Amino acid sequence: MACRGPLFSLVVQEIDAEIKADVDQNRGTRLPADMPIRRLGIDDLPDCMLLAQDREWLSEEHRWRLLFDVGEVYGIDAPGGGLAGAVVSSRYGTGIAAIGMMLVAREHERRGLGRRLMTHALDRSGTASVWLSATDYGRPLYERLGFRAIGHCSAYTGSFRSSRSDPARPVSRPMAASDLPAVLALDAEVCGVPRTELVTRLPAFCTSMRVVEGPSGITGYGGAWRNESVTALGPLIAGDEPTALALLSDLAAEAEGTLRVDVEHRWPALIDWAVEHGLSRAFTTAVMIRGADLPGDRDRLFLPVALALG
Ligand SMILES: CC(C)(COP(=O)(O)OP(=O)(O)OC[C@H]1O[C@@H](n2cnc3c(N)ncnc32)[C@H](O)[C@@H]1OP(=O)(O)O)[C@@H](O)C(=O)NCCC(=O)NCCS
Repeated sequence: MACRGPLFSLVVQEIDAEIKADVDQNRGTRLPADMPIRRLGIDDLPDCMLLAQDREWLSEEHRWRLLFDVGEVYGIDAPGGGLAGAVVSSRYGTGIAAIGMMLVAREHERRGLGRRLMTHALDRSGTASVWLSATDYGRPLYERLGFRAIGHCSAYTGSFRSSRSDPARPVSRPMAASDLPAVLALDAEVCGVPRTELVTRLPAFCTSMRVVEGPSGITGYGGAWRNESVTALGPLIAGDEPTALALLSDLAAEAEGTLRVDVEHRWPALIDWAVEHGLSRAFTTAVMIRGADLPGDRDRLFLPVALALG
């Protein structure tokens, strides 16, 4: 090995010192930990979409618009423009807040912004329970903030193909405007909280909504909505699992493009349905809650509206 001598070492030390000074200076111009959190408005939508893209999520304008309508969107401005981070909290009465779209730009990650945003959202929720679905990135942080995992949820996507097990005739019919009061009541009973703001917007948000009727009124309902080139299925509430599966088939039969369904692992029959209809697992998140156990009759809640909303 060539001997480089003391002069060489001195030059290397000086270069190292210069690089360190540059890095420190850059850090100095980067985001301070006490950068204010502000409530975002619909004008911030383009920056929310750019932030999502920065983390390789879809930009999902349609979904963000619904979140701005029903939830509180908080964000931190990045010094150079745009957003350094964002989070959405959607409150359903005093019972549950669903937290979603927790995003910190790659450039600003691991500096405490995620924790600050989540703490901010939690401080303002004031609900007995907080619900979220956590990626592997978020889960350690949420555990430290008192969340506990109660299950897992996998997104299944793909081109839908019908199956011999599909019902010969639909078990459901298209939802009419006059069904809304009954759907609101059913949703509140099953979820244990009033989701009025959300459910009232679903007929405009969804491309299709269907209801199942029993002898004494509506016992189930489901929706399908466009998420860019994908049709997402959900919400889905039904009196029992066979009806849920049949309602899924009814919704899927009229869906266009790639299909997506977010299934909690407590519903293996729904996972089988997804696989049998040509979908495959895209990713899995942990379903987590903080505070009281979830209210309502969750045995009739088969699909969320979206992972960010519960
Ligand atoms: C999940 C996410 C929001 C976390 O944001 P974040 O700002 O990096 O979070 P924090 O900085 O508060 O905490 C994350 C980590 O940084 C560490 N950290 C916090 N401040 C730090 C600092 N000054 N220096 C070094 N590390 C620090 C935390 O201890 C934590 O460490 P760990 O994950 O090893 O346990 C971000 O990674 C993200 O947007 N991921 C992609 C999208 C996603 O998956 N979102 C979650 C959806 S549920």
